[in-house]
Amino acid sequence: MEQGGSATSDQPVAIDYMELDTIIEKQFHGDKENLIMILQEIQKKYNYLPQASLIYLAEKIGIPISTIFGVGTFYNTFSLEPRGKHIISVCLGTACHVRGAEKVRERIQETLHIHDGQTTEDMQFTLESVRCLGCCSLGPVLRVDDDIHGRITSDMTGKIIERYN
Ligand code: FES
Repeated sequence: MEQGGSATSDQPVAIDYMELDTIIEKQFHGDKENLIMILQEIQKKYNYLPQASLIYLAEKIGIPISTIFGVGTFYNTFSLEPRGKHIISVCLGTACHVRGAEKVRERIQETLHIHDGQTTEDMQFTLESVRCLGCCSLGPVLRVDDDIHGRITSDMTGKIIERYN
């Protein structure tokens, strides 16, 4: 894994415009209320909302780009910055916090050489802290993509990360 620093800018990614057209056709149906569903599909494909895809979408469905950016920034499930292939979410909710979640986060930061909210340079991992993942009895809890890892210690984080590398 490449280490040091983080990726934070909107680096150009190759947009598959044919696939984008398919997403728009499938979700839009002339209804601007479906914007969120379109954005969800774009994010699912690229792991974030690339600027070029939003500009194309705005023209295609006739919604001002400012509105689309507004939706993209309002919901914290969307990201306008490139994110890693794997999203590591450390729960810092009360139940996890009192069981040592902060130490877990610190160890991940040391291992990946990134801070909270950053992405590794090789674009493998993004680290983010969240408030309660809804499984407090398993705390401290770590989620990697859709996988929940419960009752973890800082010493366990290296092996967990390795599985996704
Ligand atoms: S506080 Fe961590 S899962 Fe609820």
